[in-house]
Amino acid sequence: MYTDIVLDHFMHPRNVGEIPDADGVGSVGNPVCGDMMTFYIKVQDGRIADVKFKTFGCGAAIAVSSIVTEMAIGKTLEEARNITKAQVAAQLGGLPPQKMHCSNLGTEALSEAIANYEARVAAGEISPQQSDA
Ligand code: FES
Repeated sequence: MYTDIVLDHFMHPRNVGEIPDADGVGSVGNPVCGDMMTFYIKVQDGRIADVKFKTFGCGAAIAVSSIVTEMAIGKTLEEARNITKAQVAAQLGGLPPQKMHCSNLGTEALSEAIANYEARVAAGEISPQQSDA
């Protein structure tokens, strides 16, 4: 039912945890299955410098969270926001049809964290981090 890539990310999830001084935090939940996902991001030079996640959910949701963090690191905010659930599923070697909604949660939680970062910058709560060049 699950590919080896899904099982690997489920059993050895990457980037689990929280970033205490995160620049943006996004949480989403699926009311049908009750699963919840929170993403924390650090942004530097307009790119995702670090991502961590906490997921209360099914094995596919955990594998999705893990692979989305790997796909997002180093990307610009725009590129990260444009990661689709189809790309996430493809990166995992495929997901069963009834588990495709789990990949949605990952892209939504990441987008929420980016939106939260942008709202905080717009509100003057934080300043965009630029490396000295
Ligand atoms: Fe809902 Fe997987 S069953 S996120």
